[in-house]
Amino acid sequence: MRLAVLTGGGDCPGLNAVIRAVVVAGSRLHGDEAVGYLDGWRGVMERRSVPLRPSRVNGLLARGGTVLGSSRTNPFAAEEGAAAAVRNLADDGIDALVAIGGDDTLGVALRLGGLGVRAVGVPKTIDNDLSGTEVTFGFHTAVQTATEAIDRLQTTAESHHRVIVCEVMGRHVGWIAAYAGIAGGADEILVPEVAFDLSAVCQRLMRRHERGRYSSVVVVSEGALPGGADREAAVAATSSATVDQFGHARLGGVGAWLAEQIEAQTGFESRHTTLGHIQRGGTPTAFDRVLATRFGVGAVAAVHEGAFGTMVAYQAGRIVRVPLEEAVGKPKQLDLSLLEEVADPFLG
Ligand code: F6P
Repeated sequence: MRLAVLTGGGDCPGLNAVIRAVVVAGSRLHGDEAVGYLDGWRGVMERRSVPLRPSRVNGLLARGGTVLGSSRTNPFAAEEGAAAAVRNLADDGIDALVAIGGDDTLGVALRLGGLGVRAVGVPKTIDNDLSGTEVTFGFHTAVQTATEAIDRLQTTAESHHRVIVCEVMGRHVGWIAAYAGIAGGADEILVPEVAFDLSAVCQRLMRRHERGRYSSVVVVSEGALPGGADREAAVAATSSATVDQFGHARLGGVGAWLAEQIEAQTGFESRHTTLGHIQRGGTPTAFDRVLATRFGVGAVAAVHEGAFGTMVAYQAGRIVRVPLEEAVGKPKQLDLSLLEEVADPFLG
């Protein structure tokens, strides 16, 4: 078979490990040849690809980012974009496409499936918000990076008796905030799934202070917002007017806004740190390397068994397949019982 691979959306540690697994498993187990489209769906629309031989993917297991490049290009946002993608795949003699991406990239794979493209999806996102899989690769690495940052913020917050707000990624969901917040012993964890009460947060910080805890670390997802009267000001401070081709506004700024509000309401000196793309870069953890490799090998198996229109997924320790329809369109929200059971008893 002639396999194509692409990586779309925000990059993520482990993308190269999936590419390596697809190329090596396809070649060694089935005699497949592979090509990689460059820069996600944009490369398919513009017919830009490179041959991928096993020798070319040597050394990729531990390398962050994606050697194929990525973009947030949506073929369905451009006139004739989808038609060009279908035509180019046919002209390049592609028998099957492995699309590695999150909700947007896999949503495109699903729609192109309706136009005859034979695609299998691999779930990628540091946010861990894809449905149908318990975990996406990249999430574990992002949590590890954020936890190490929170550990460092704890000691400087203690030294200066400050409140430090740490903003982590998570556009729609609070998986990174919850896991890194729990692992780093944060004193407040604020997630997009629950509108927070700013004055309640400040009161809890003041109670901590009264108990002799003069420093606090607050972890907030970039997509978290307060409820009530504070909401409008927070939205204005955190969401830019710029949207990508999938309609997502660029987020960022809630940490700075929150630190200002906390200082104003409590009188405690406050600072903020935004971890941003540091969470997306760098080498994947061992867990993510193994998961990415299992997903890549699983995707090749799915292709050879004709399971098009599916996504490989991780469920109860096993790699399974779920229909792409079940994976996209509805972000997998944080299981709030995690915060209630494991975080709440230690907060404040
Ligand atoms: O890939 C998901 C994500 O990391 C979100 O958490 C974040 O909002 C977004 O990507 C940032 O994207 P970009 O790099 O395009 O600004």
